[in-house]
Amino acid sequence: MYSAMGALGLAPVPQAHARAFRPPRRGDFTSIGRRNGKKVIVLGAGIAGLAAAYELGKAGYACRVLEAKNRPGGRNWTVRGGTTETDLDGRTQTADFAPGQYMNAGPGRIPQSHVTLEYCRELGVPLEAFVNQNANAYIFHENSAALAGQPVRWRTAKADVYGYVSELLAKATDQGALDQTLTTTDKERLLELLKDFGDLKGRDDAWAYTGSSRRGYSVEPGAALEAGTVLAPPPSLSDVIASGLGLRFSFEFDYQQAMMMFQPVGGMDAIPKALAAAIGSDRIEYGARAAAVLNHSDGASVTWVNAQGRTVTERADYVVAAIPPMVMARLKHNLGSGVTDALLSPQPWEAGKIGLEYRSRWWETDDRIYGGVTPTDNDLGTIWYPSYGYHGDRGLVIGYYHALEPAAVYGRLPHAERERRAVAEGVKIHGAKYRSELASSFSVAWHRTPFIEGGWAGWESQTGVAYQTLNRPAGNVYFAGDWLSNTIAWQHGAFTSARKVVTEIHSRTLAR
Ligand code: ALA
Repeated sequence: MYSAMGALGLAPVPQAHARAFRPPRRGDFTSIGRRNGKKVIVLGAGIAGLAAAYELGKAGYACRVLEAKNRPGGRNWTVRGGTTETDLDGRTQTADFAPGQYMNAGPGRIPQSHVTLEYCRELGVPLEAFVNQNANAYIFHENSAALAGQPVRWRTAKADVYGYVSELLAKATDQGALDQTLTTTDKERLLELLKDFGDLKGRDDAWAYTGSSRRGYSVEPGAALEAGTVLAPPPSLSDVIASGLGLRFSFEFDYQQAMMMFQPVGGMDAIPKALAAAIGSDRIEYGARAAAVLNHSDGASVTWVNAQGRTVTERADYVVAAIPPMVMARLKHNLGSGVTDALLSPQPWEAGKIGLEYRSRWWETDDRIYGGVTPTDNDLGTIWYPSYGYHGDRGLVIGYYHALEPAAVYGRLPHAERERRAVAEGVKIHGAKYRSELASSFSVAWHRTPFIEGGWAGWESQTGVAYQTLNRPAGNVYFAGDWLSNTIAWQHGAFTSARKVVTEIHSRTLAR
């Protein structure tokens, strides 16, 4: 009936859902005369490894998760006061953030479509809005051909870009340039749309864009006769185009980046903590550095060095390798050179973030920015204002979030140098308070972080042999991670990859 209604246009908007997933259940084994699942060793307590152990655990598989770091989450990492990390180059930093202040060093935002939210619901992880687009945030272009070095409010830039583009199209339409394409009725309707879309004057004024309150005010509207003072007239059409500001708005309708977005209350690591608690602490071993993975005709084995420095080998029915591919490639294994080559195919990306803790929330009091992101064309990449703790005494800004070359450059610097450079760049946007109000900082360069070694890993082709090779088990060894998904660098990718491997292992177990 529902599809009939759909055909008649009576059903609501069709919904896209992630591929259906049925978690393994204990009852599934009764048909094959087993009481419980098999033994699985999971390498890595990042989101993919935790999700695999969590889902397999629902049916009673005996999972053991080996994690080299001393915490769950992998790149899902929330830095708080006291958090210590030593980078691959041996430089150590300890966060000095005040209680309640935190920095999501890895994932920081969750779209509504992602299965990550399903896990938050199932695990009881409370959510709050993450502000990914804010009309009051800035765009800062210092290398553009016009308007360089002037922070422009997102709303102002958008009013001008939409205004001028609409004006041009309205003029062209009204002058007959599109007569081959549009009927007379189409033209009138399009003109009506453009007038509204760009906030244009009418036909009598040649569809001019002359600015409007959409740009914002220099004096806010107030009581009685205070109508407000609209921001000075827009820059010229030529300057607005040359500024490149218009290239920022596609972010708003990017499928993954569009509002609403969410974050767990109190830090993104609420997700791995909840998964780890559900799996059971006795099943997760921290400080366990995998050394070898061997496939056998009747199972697989893993050798690791435990937190006490002892070498341990254990057998299982299956192994799920949920660690970064370039790290996995270095382990001793007997899975063949094709697997090693495939593991070395995806290229790790440099990526970095710095958390800047401030003694006041000047972005709220002075700039009226409550959450959101300011994109820049310099090597900061983006600045993020916190979507938590509004009106508190202190606050924590992400002073840069960048990838590739800028991340490589900052990553090479000692931590204090990163802070100095990021602050100097931020002062150009926010003024002296960006330096004078600073309390402390903590920076992460993911490509220089032990056992992780990259912000994420990207493929040249996700239809080629390497990708196909690792999306299949190598005997009894399976691979999982966001890098084996179509949402690389999102927790959704890790969850869906884990679900796929869990489904495969469970089907294979039931078929035996
Ligand atoms: N998922 C990553 C982000 O949102 C790439 O920035």
